[in-house]
Amino acid sequence: MSLRTLSVKAFLFLGLCQVGRRGLASAPELTEQPKKIAVVGAGIGGTAAAYFLRQEFGPAVRIDVYEAGTVGGRLATENIGGYEYESGGSVIHPLNLHMKHFVDKLGLSQRADVPSRMAIFDGKELTFEESEWFIVNVLRMLWRYGLNFLRMHLWVESILDKFMRIYQYQQFGHCFTSVERLLHAMGGDSFLTLLNNTLEETMLANGFSQAFINDIVTPITRVNYGQSVRLPGFVGAVSLAGADSGLWAVDGGNKRVCSGLLYHSKAELIPARVTAVSVKTRPAKHGAVATFYEVNYVGESGPAHSLYDIVIVATPLHQDLSDISFSGISPPISSHFPGRYHQTVATLVLGQLNVSYLGTEQKPSDFTFSDILTTDSKALAINSLSSLDPAHMPPNYRQQPASQTKVWKVFSHGPLSELQLQELFLSREQVRERRWLAYPNYRTPQRRIPPFILHDRLFYLSAIDWAASAMEMSAIAARNTALLAHHRWYSQTDKVDQEDLHTRLRGEL
Ligand SMILES: Cc1cc2nc3c(=O)[nH]c(=O)nc-3n(C[C@H](O)[C@H](O)[C@H](O)COP(=O)(O)OP(=O)(O)OC[C@H]3O[C@@H](n4cnc5c(N)ncnc54)[C@H](O)[C@@H]3O)c2cc1C
Ligand SMILES: *[C@@H]1O[C@H](CO)[C@@H](O)[C@H](O)[C@H]1NC(C)=O
Ligand SMILES: *[C@@H]1O[C@H](CO)[C@@H](O)[C@H](O)[C@H]1NC(C)=O
Repeated sequence: MSLRTLSVKAFLFLGLCQVGRRGLASAPELTEQPKKIAVVGAGIGGTAAAYFLRQEFGPAVRIDVYEAGTVGGRLATENIGGYEYESGGSVIHPLNLHMKHFVDKLGLSQRADVPSRMAIFDGKELTFEESEWFIVNVLRMLWRYGLNFLRMHLWVESILDKFMRIYQYQQFGHCFTSVERLLHAMGGDSFLTLLNNTLEETMLANGFSQAFINDIVTPITRVNYGQSVRLPGFVGAVSLAGADSGLWAVDGGNKRVCSGLLYHSKAELIPARVTAVSVKTRPAKHGAVATFYEVNYVGESGPAHSLYDIVIVATPLHQDLSDISFSGISPPISSHFPGRYHQTVATLVLGQLNVSYLGTEQKPSDFTFSDILTTDSKALAINSLSSLDPAHMPPNYRQQPASQTKVWKVFSHGPLSELQLQELFLSREQVRERRWLAYPNYRTPQRRIPPFILHDRLFYLSAIDWAASAMEMSAIAARNTALLAHHRWYSQTDKVDQEDLHTRLRGEL
């Protein structure tokens, strides 16, 4: 076959895919293209939105991304002793397909894998110690918790199975107007029930033992979301998936995905704080009225504003996180939705750990646990303690035992006092503290989750945080809002909020 026929075939094939995705009913030629789109926030959500918007609307539209702080948002690194360490979102699940796709597309790579071992601390002693031997762990778990461990694995897998359906829906251009509808499309009523019931209730109802929940599940929700097993079942399941094997991170730092996506989408980064978004109308052709969004912002050179056809807000609209006023919109949108974000303080310490703090007799030179999780104990000031490897590992990098000076990350609800640091560490060469409003303070029954659509062409990506806050969730919401923006602009309704997609798309791939 000659190259030429090959490329004609490839062209036809791609063309068919396009039709398959969009359906034949689309008539974009009837509507003018949008000229300008604004995205507020350059975390993984906002930058992924820029990427998917470019994919949906083509090369001509101008995409401006506003960022008041640093590109990456809740993905950030701290420099300690010449190396960068993740201080925010750190691990990615092997089945997080959007994150995987970004890393491939941007020519980034996964960080080299290093072995890790987990232990659980109850405030007095280590109650569980992972062995280097898989079989030993299995036997220990069987001995103490019967089949709970295996059953948990299967339960999380069955939820992940349904979760993965979203990628096919999005591939075919489908999107949803609310978080609840998106979850329902993935897992039906059972996913909505997961929003309403706590992880603890859900697991008890599924036959898990209270001892297993207290000893093993609680430490996992504490390290991943700083909260107890009273968080909703859905975010609980996401948290448990975050304890699977095969977790990875981006070489050089997860935030590199954000700057990469900005560059790749040819979006304009505007370093400014958005203060207001208001609806403006103008007379248009044929006596019609055109609606625009005026984005007001404050940058280095003072206040300014600009008009857009479409706006995507990709930052949580909650107290202490952002303060954007909306006007000209009815019913009115207030600057803050109800509900608070949970504070998690990440304290990174280059120093020597006080191993006896963990109530263990082990010699520091033999102590090689990398993650120490904790049970729900009043006596505990910390949620977790992890030994960190650099975001990019230098050649010949070797993990050190606790007898060496190395970098530790402590997660706690409040800032650690000097006294607490003194007890935890024998020596401290450098200390960096980062106070995050990290993820929602989850509760059940869940209040109504904010909508993806705030107004006609004004979208709210960060609503997804209330289902579960994670990099991949923001990326899924980014593609969802880009598709919503596209379909609303071109008045296509056949790919919005469709029911029963799982059955209808079966056999399509
Ligand atoms: C300590 C910690 C650990 C975590 N661990 C993990 C993990 O292991 N795995 C995982 O997948 N997820 C993890 N997460 C969650 C994950 O980091 C977040 O879900 C994700 O990064 C959110 O991205 P986002 O773009 O939606 O929001 P953000 O990253 O919050 O981005 C919003 C951006 O908007 C900007 N902004 C706000 N207001 C304005 C304004 N008015 N004008 C302009 N810009 C504005 C902000 O500066 C910010 O950069 C963790 C989070 C924290 C804090
Ligand atoms: C969840 O709770 C809300 C509010 O209590 C209720 O309106 C909704 O019907 C519940 N959903 C399910 C699936 O139980
Ligand atoms: C180390 O921890 C133990 C147990 O909490 C404590 O008694 C001891 O004082 C700590 N060591 C130092 C040097 O602070």
